[in-house]
Amino acid sequence: MREKFKFISILFIAIMAIIFITGCNSESGSGTADDTGTDSGTETESENTDDGGVSIGIVLPTKDEPRWVQDEARFKAALEDSEYTTEILFSQGSSAKEKENVETLISQGIDVLIIAPHDGAAAGASVEAAKEEGITVISYDRLVTDTDAVDYYVTFDSVAVGEAQGQYLVDNAEGSNVPLYLYTGASSDNNAFLFFEGAWNVLQPKIADGTFVIANSSEAEALKDKAELTRDEMGKILGQVTTNWDPNEAKNKAQTNLTAAGEDLKGNVAILAPNDGTARAIADVFATDGGITDYVVTGQDAEIASIQYIIDGKQSMTVFKDVRTLVEDSMGMAVDILDGNEPETTGSYDNGNIEVPAKQTEVIVVEQDNVQAELIDSGYYEASEFTGLE
Ligand code: BGC
Repeated sequence: MREKFKFISILFIAIMAIIFITGCNSESGSGTADDTGTDSGTETESENTDDGGVSIGIVLPTKDEPRWVQDEARFKAALEDSEYTTEILFSQGSSAKEKENVETLISQGIDVLIIAPHDGAAAGASVEAAKEEGITVISYDRLVTDTDAVDYYVTFDSVAVGEAQGQYLVDNAEGSNVPLYLYTGASSDNNAFLFFEGAWNVLQPKIADGTFVIANSSEAEALKDKAELTRDEMGKILGQVTTNWDPNEAKNKAQTNLTAAGEDLKGNVAILAPNDGTARAIADVFATDGGITDYVVTGQDAEIASIQYIIDGKQSMTVFKDVRTLVEDSMGMAVDILDGNEPETTGSYDNGNIEVPAKQTEVIVVEQDNVQAELIDSGYYEASEFTGLE
């Protein structure tokens, strides 16, 4: 009888032990699924996500442009010593993917969302979803428009970017009636308007005084006597000369423009190209046109390939936007928010719905003469990344 009782007791303990062990396993199994069960895919980069939750979610527009890959690299460098967990997701030029990314980050429990929208207005729905969960939203470089669900904006001085581009063309124009080719960024990006506004501020008086003659936009031609354009007026010009931030589209447009241009619109020309990717594509087209004697072409972002073009004399200038500062500012803001402090701002931007408190960073013009000082000596790039640098 005692033996039987002993046996039953051992059996009972064994069964309890098995139940306990199985229970533990299934629990840790579901825990693991929760930790990693997000749609990470190939565009996901995680940092310090070992505790399962993410504090700061970062959404960037596309991996296909070196500009945003640069931002990712600078974020990663800045995050190395961070005590907060972060995740960087890319939207690959799709508002639907962007929304999915924001939803993923919301499900990971983020407290702060840093987002550079693919399409400023379309991103409104995503940030509103984040806001509803009590998440603080920081618009990064590109403003999310037409919503009240943006708390802060960290940006470069984008009007100054356009002004620097326009000023470069003015400073390098020789004589009068210099054909001026205009190209812009995507109309879905608020920055494209700010860049063009800045360029127009400087170029319009020089169109009016006959230094330049507009070569490729009847809409700009019709507005050439207006110093200040409304958004709708700019929209008409952008509709005609947009590159959509796509080098291929820029190349096709440049080819079409040069095919249509008569002799009077060739020779020495000035080209307003909105950024480096489109500048290289447009420059390649102008460089191989028999009717073009010489060209001056602008850019922005200081992409490695464009710095090489500048060293080689194929692109005239770029506007250097030190991404390290933007990353530092946005991360600083995020940490302030997480620590319960009020982030410092220096002004505000109207996003069509509210005035968004903003922190703004200045920009630097880079041409052949100051590549070394601004980009190499400052530690932004290594001299070994280029050929032909002394
Ligand atoms: C950014 C530029 C970039 C462009 C295309 C703009 O919003 O400010 O730096 O070249 O988008 O991605």
